[in-house]
Amino acid sequence: MNKLKITGGRRLDGEVLISGAKNAALPILAGCLLAETPVLLRNIPHLRDVTTTIELLSRMGVEVTVHDQMGIEVDASGVDKLEAPYELVKTMRASILVLGPLLARYGRADVSLPGGCAIGARPVDLHVAGLREMGAEIQIDNGYIRARARRLRGARLVLDTVTVTGTENLLMAATLADGQTTIENAAREPEVVDLANFLIAMGAQISGAGTDTIVVEGVDKLEGAEYTVLPDRIEAGTYLLAAAITGGRVKVRKVRPEHLDAILAKLRMAGATVTVDGDTVEVDMRGRRPDSVDLRTAPYPGFPTDMQAQFTALNAVANGVGAITETVFENRFMHAQELQRMGADIRIEGNTAIVTGVPRLTGAPVMATDLRASASLVLAGLVAEGDTIVDRIYHIDRGYERIEEKLSALGATIQRISD
Ligand code: EPZ
Repeated sequence: MNKLKITGGRRLDGEVLISGAKNAALPILAGCLLAETPVLLRNIPHLRDVTTTIELLSRMGVEVTVHDQMGIEVDASGVDKLEAPYELVKTMRASILVLGPLLARYGRADVSLPGGCAIGARPVDLHVAGLREMGAEIQIDNGYIRARARRLRGARLVLDTVTVTGTENLLMAATLADGQTTIENAAREPEVVDLANFLIAMGAQISGAGTDTIVVEGVDKLEGAEYTVLPDRIEAGTYLLAAAITGGRVKVRKVRPEHLDAILAKLRMAGATVTVDGDTVEVDMRGRRPDSVDLRTAPYPGFPTDMQAQFTALNAVANGVGAITETVFENRFMHAQELQRMGADIRIEGNTAIVTGVPRLTGAPVMATDLRASASLVLAGLVAEGDTIVDRIYHIDRGYERIEEKLSALGATIQRISD
């Protein structure tokens, strides 16, 4: 069952409950390695990447117990294998997030280099450089990062590039280091703040998370705590965009609207009526065709690169011409050629996609190349004439919980099929 079949033409209308954030759950699960006693996590999403992370932790000797309503207990007191093997890391780059915690708590870690992916080379040089600054001895050979440190020491780290998981790895390492660490040019994403709040709940001493300078006073140990993961702003943005592209109305529930500012601003520019009420946000585009928007991706609080592919699909059926510039990753327009097969008019010029709206897209067999590209193909299928078959949807299962159920509940004609 590795394909989605979508029959376009239905205007979506309804409400959808947003799950916990994948990109907060993954670093927080890795952060459990720092705790001497069990951690209880809530609002962990049912995603392939979460399953992979739990598999990775279990192989290290971590006891993971799934409770009811997706509460997960993580007990790292019995860790006896300080390694993240290639066979798992190659399926999920975010496995690199165990490097900082293992080094900080156990003084050693052997983690496979993640390698690139469809959207870019995805180096981890800044992760390694920061840990070396903190006193780690790191060799890279046979495709593995082999790190050793009696005890990491606090350091002043200045990151050349804003890196989300780089900031997260170094933040986790700093919690148990000897002395003070400052991380400058740190990532400000809400998921970084959620990780910091989780670490603080376990006894870490962190200030400045959410700004570009994070200060950590190292402590001797961290104790398990209970923590609820924040809602997924990218999942929420994707469903709100589904309303805009189909000319419908969708309300997302259990979100943090303040994390959606850049996305909502663009949806308003596209002509949508956006209503924020507590932890719900509604987008209403009934009876209207969207207007093209220009956007330029950037680290938070700028426009999120993880919503770029979705807005490329919106521009494909909008009034006018929209320029979409991708500044974070070097190859994140893989969805363009698939959208072109559906009739989209997209011209790539360097790191900018010039999208001229067309009256209609036509359904076609298309192929998912990465997580967010596959989301954009599903969105295009919702509005295309006829059937769209999206292949290799294991990409989409990594980041969207039960996408066909949630979209069907909004009125879409979508089903999971096998070859
Ligand atoms: C995180 O990836 C997210 N993944 C990505 O989400 C997201 O697209 C990305 O941040 C940007 O917001 C997780 O949080 C698990 P980066 P990450 O390090 O941390 C360069 C999704 O769809 N860089 O912030 O790997 C890098 O090449 C995924 O959910 C270095 O040069 O991204 C890129 O150009 C896709 N050296 C830029 O920084 C390094 O050591 C930003 O990458 C690290 C990064």
